[in-house]
Amino acid sequence: TIGAVGDALGRSVFVVGGFVRDLLLRQENFDVDIVVEGDGIAFAEEYARRYDCRVRAHKKFATAVLIFADGFKVDVASARTEYYLEPGALPTVENASIKLDLYRRDFTINTLAIALNGPHFGELLDYFGGQNDLRGKAIRVLHNLSFVEDPTRMFRAIRFEQRLGFQMGRHTVHLLKSAVRMGFLDKISGPRVFNELVLIFRESDPLPAMRRLDELGLLAFIHPTLSVRHLSDGTFAAAKQAVDWYELLYTGERCQRWKVFFLCLLSDLDHGEVQQIVQRLAMPPQCEEFFGSERDAATRILNQIEWRSMQSYRWRDSDIHALLKDLPVEALLYGMAITEHEEARRTISHFITHLRHVKCLLRGHDLQSLGLAPGPIYREIFDALLDVRLDGQVVTREDELQFVTN
Ligand code: CTP
Repeated sequence: TIGAVGDALGRSVFVVGGFVRDLLLRQENFDVDIVVEGDGIAFAEEYARRYDCRVRAHKKFATAVLIFADGFKVDVASARTEYYLEPGALPTVENASIKLDLYRRDFTINTLAIALNGPHFGELLDYFGGQNDLRGKAIRVLHNLSFVEDPTRMFRAIRFEQRLGFQMGRHTVHLLKSAVRMGFLDKISGPRVFNELVLIFRESDPLPAMRRLDELGLLAFIHPTLSVRHLSDGTFAAAKQAVDWYELLYTGERCQRWKVFFLCLLSDLDHGEVQQIVQRLAMPPQCEEFFGSERDAATRILNQIEWRSMQSYRWRDSDIHALLKDLPVEALLYGMAITEHEEARRTISHFITHLRHVKCLLRGHDLQSLGLAPGPIYREIFDALLDVRLDGQVVTREDELQFVTN
């Protein structure tokens, strides 16, 4: 249907980029990017007139999103060429042919396109050796200034290398190293670096990419003390194991796996160093709190748990609950990953599986019907009730009522 609308408008349309790359690699990818030689927004609007979908247009970028009834989205862009007035800045954009549009992209493997118009439907466009590099498992830039124009590509190159099991070509590594040496990473804003790190931490196994970032000097550029050298292979593997384990529990509460890995990366740093990193990356306030005060609390609590485990402390479930109840799940999983004490790990996993979601059965109106006037006393009663429930001293609602009246 896309090609038919292109034919009707006399415009050439193509599916491009990651979708085509992954199609040739036989990997799943539902991000469909369409490029139109001409006005992408007019194309999207015409498409929506004929087929049942909505359009969200971004005039500034000459792009649009087609949104179908089932929520499926297709990005539509106008073929364009970009040039950079200065390194690291956002590009200046002009309309262009598909070939120029593909030329502005990061790596050869992302420059493949498939024609969608009737007579040419299904033809593969490969102007820059993308297929060859897919076969040779190589990540290669298209021209010498690629990393200089957009230094976030250094992170992307490493992410693709590890995700696809590819390697950067020699010349590309050389260009990357020169760009690092010449300080071009300083040209990218904090949030863009942060975003690239999060994308890497969202990959299924981020450790190899982290090692590569370290080796090529990208971590040290974020902060001189940032490194994965202190981490054994086991730490990230344990983090991955903890996250996978948690996801299999289906608690209904999602965990942001990237935060668990990020905490591992920061595990050797002190409060001040982490603050500098948080600032350098201009993290949003909620992440600032997570990597600041919540991380500090998690470290303190983990130390207590490890210490008590070493003393063979006999935990009551209410003790465990009191210690861990305010920690975000990502901090708990990090604790499981980082601790070397099996007993401490078991304590945290027991909390997650059995204690974290325990609630008492009585509600405010039950206390009211017992003749208790609402006030701070309610909080105390509920806390006490939760403790006895956690320790198995009450089971039914009647037990709870009895406990309160006593
Ligand atoms: N791109 C680029 N330079 C960047 C970011 C993106 O040239 N700094 C180009 C790439 O060629 C890419 C396209 O824009 O194919 C779309 O970007 P994105 O959706 O991030 O890339 P995908 O290849 O789809 O990657 P992913 O599979 O991670 O979504």
